[in-house]
Amino acid sequence: MYAFKITGGIPLNGTIEVKGAKNAVLPMMAAALLTDEPITLENISYLSDVKIQAQLLESLGVKITQHDNAITLQADHITSRLAAYEFVSKMRASFWVLGPLIGRFGEAAVSLPGGCAIGARPSDIYFSALESMGATVTIENGYVIATGPLHNADISFRRISVGATHNTIMAAVLTKGVTTIYNAAREPEVVDLINLLNKMGAKIKGAGTNKITITGVEKLHGTTHSVITDRIETASFAIAAALTKGNIFIKGGHKEYIEPIADILQMCDVKLTQNKEGLSVDGHNAVLRPTSVTTSEYPGFPTDVQSPITTLLALAGGTSFIEERIYENRFMHVPELNRMGAHIIVLPNDTICIKGVQKLDGATVMSSDLRGGMALVLAGLVADGTTIVKRIYHIERGYYKLEDRLSALGAKIDRIHITD
Ligand code: UD1
Repeated sequence: MYAFKITGGIPLNGTIEVKGAKNAVLPMMAAALLTDEPITLENISYLSDVKIQAQLLESLGVKITQHDNAITLQADHITSRLAAYEFVSKMRASFWVLGPLIGRFGEAAVSLPGGCAIGARPSDIYFSALESMGATVTIENGYVIATGPLHNADISFRRISVGATHNTIMAAVLTKGVTTIYNAAREPEVVDLINLLNKMGAKIKGAGTNKITITGVEKLHGTTHSVITDRIETASFAIAAALTKGNIFIKGGHKEYIEPIADILQMCDVKLTQNKEGLSVDGHNAVLRPTSVTTSEYPGFPTDVQSPITTLLALAGGTSFIEERIYENRFMHVPELNRMGAHIIVLPNDTICIKGVQKLDGATVMSSDLRGGMALVLAGLVADGTTIVKRIYHIERGYYKLEDRLSALGAKIDRIHITD
């Protein structure tokens, strides 16, 4: 087992680069199943989730070649339409091969992802969308068995789901006629998947709106696409600059994708300046102030930054509230932050009350999910003394070589081997 050992209290200064968004790369890798021609995705980091997605696709027969910061996938000889439990159980995004498999081959067997630490995460919206398109969907021995043929449909999601939007679009691109999704997700990663698919020859309109129309085409072709940068990493590093009163240039960062976080940082006298290379975050004069946050779908406050912003508000001068509206169990970082001296109370109705404290103290803490783990790293960067963050395999799913990149900004952080 590995852990991060962090000595806090050092302002972070310098340049940190963000690369392709994990949440865009993963559905795009699944989209490679839609054509027998090669798809090259550029600007990517080999995060552990990317490796799992690659292993799953290879198990289906996809040929994968890695280059420097790029990956080429070719699905010209698919040998299996079954996505095994060993992959899907590790990462929910591997479930997204369901849409392209049934869309191109008319059948798919995909292990059910099950619940996860942050909530139940059901899949009913995926299934009802496919059923509206004529699929038969059954659950057998823990697998979703979906069979076509598919036809076009008007589909209205009962609630907004990023994954169901990805999946339904990928199921519909090769399906004859016009399929319309109402109440679709507007996330930049959905927009970027649509950009990739349109480059492949798809006819999709409405990217970035709640209504997406897909006019089915007979065939898609290969292309090369540079993936949009990771807005959750961008937001996390911007918060690190504010917390440590540092000055960071986030190369590849886009303020427009993190507006709700930028608003809070600006309220705390953090200066954000965008140029065409990236986002500069100057936290030298930061005064952390309390606020109220409610997570919601894009363009609202992203649930994936809820735990990192908890760390910032834990040190704000006053009382803050955070209401989590996307997941029912996403406050596992709270008891760990409290062990570092934070004063946070979990209230009913998925809300926490944060009474700001003057300082956090180093402690040994345990991450229980990806973003909650990052909240603990941020706390360690600003705490007095030494913090050990355990179970960092969660964090490494979404933050590439974090210790190297933060060390380059002056942080004292090491990846150490421990016996858990
Ligand atoms: C994606 C992101 C994740 C982010 C989330 C919300 C990836 C790889 N993951 O996850 O980081 O936190 O969007 O922005 O891109 N739901 C149902 N039924 C369904 C599908 C979803 O009830 O069939 C619920 C979920 O339980 C959750 C909510 O809808 O409460 C939103 O989930 P969804 O948008 O689907 O999240 P993911 O796509 O899994």
